[in-house]
Amino acid sequence: MRVAVVGATGLIGSRTVARLRDHGVEVVPVSRADGVDVSTGQGLERALRGAEVIVDVTDAPSREQTVSTRFFTASTGHLLKAAAAAGAEHYVALSVVGTDLVGSGYFRAKAAQEDLARHATVPCTLVRATPFHESVEAIATDGIRPDGVHVPPLLVRPVSTDDVAAAVAHAAVGLPRFGVLEVAGPQELRLEEATGELLAVLGRTGPVVADAQAPFFGAVVGERTLLPGPDAHLGHHTFTEWLKSR
Ligand SMILES: NC(=O)c1ccc[n+]([C@@H]2O[C@H](COP(=O)([O-])OP(=O)(O)OC[C@H]3O[C@@H](n4cnc5c(N)ncnc54)[C@H](OP(=O)(O)O)[C@@H]3O)[C@@H](O)[C@H]2O)c1
Repeated sequence: MRVAVVGATGLIGSRTVARLRDHGVEVVPVSRADGVDVSTGQGLERALRGAEVIVDVTDAPSREQTVSTRFFTASTGHLLKAAAAAGAEHYVALSVVGTDLVGSGYFRAKAAQEDLARHATVPCTLVRATPFHESVEAIATDGIRPDGVHVPPLLVRPVSTDDVAAAVAHAAVGLPRFGVLEVAGPQELRLEEATGELLAVLGRTGPVVADAQAPFFGAVVGERTLLPGPDAHLGHHTFTEWLKSR
C-alpha cells in the first residue's frame, strides 16, 4: 500500500510518517520543501501519482476564521482533485472534535474541509481529534492579560500528538469509514485547571481567569463542546505525563 502524507513535516504528519513506516507501509511524504503547495495546487498531481491513500494533516497559517477557511477550502479542493486524478481509493483528513457544533472561528474552516471531503468522489475518513496537549499552552499564551491568563471554562480531553498520529495511521491502512472517527485524551480535565498546572510547571505566577468570552481556536464554545462522543478512541498519554516531559 502506498500512502501519501500531505503535511509530512508537521507535528502530526512527522509522527504519522514514522508510524506507517514502522509498520512497513510505503510512504510518500509531501510538504512545501518538496515543491508542493496545497493552497495553489502546485506540484500536487505529480506528488500524489500512484498513491492509493492520501492523508491530509496540513494546517492553515492562522486560526483566524477568514484565513483558515480560505486555506482549507482551497487546499482540500486541490487535494481532492489531485487524489481523484491519481485514482486514490481513500482520503483521510484530520479534523477537530466539535467542528459540527461551533460554526465560527477555526471550526468553521474545518467544517468547510469536512464538507468538501464528504461530497468528494474519493471515499473519505474524517479523524476528529480533541485539542492536543500543545494547544493548552497555545490557548494560555493567547489569553495573557494584565490581570492573569484568561481561558474559557471548558471541559477538555487533551490528547498527545503520538496518540493522534497512531489513530491517523490506523485510519489510513483501514477501509474508508465514509464518516467520522474520534480520538481523545485519556483524562477529562477543566481547561482552567490544566492551564494552572501548566503555568506552575513553567514557573509562572498570576491567576488563571475563567472567562466565558475567551476564545478557543477563534470561537466562543460551550462547556462540553470539545468532548468526544462515547465511541471515541481514547489515547494512552496523559496531560500530566506531557507536563513532566516538557
Ligand atoms: N492543534 C490541535 O489541538 C488540533 C486538534 C485537532 C485537530 N487538529 C488538526 O491537526 C492537523 C495538523 O496539525 P499540526 O499541528 O500537525 O500542524 P503543523 O505542525 O502546523 O503542520 C502543518 C503541516 O502543513 C504543511 N503545510 C502548511 N501549509 C502548506 C501548504 N501551503 N502547502 C503544503 N503544505 C503545507 C506544513 O508543511 P511545511 O513544512 O511546508 O510548512 C506542515 O507539514 C490540522 O489540520 C489541525 O486542524 C489540530
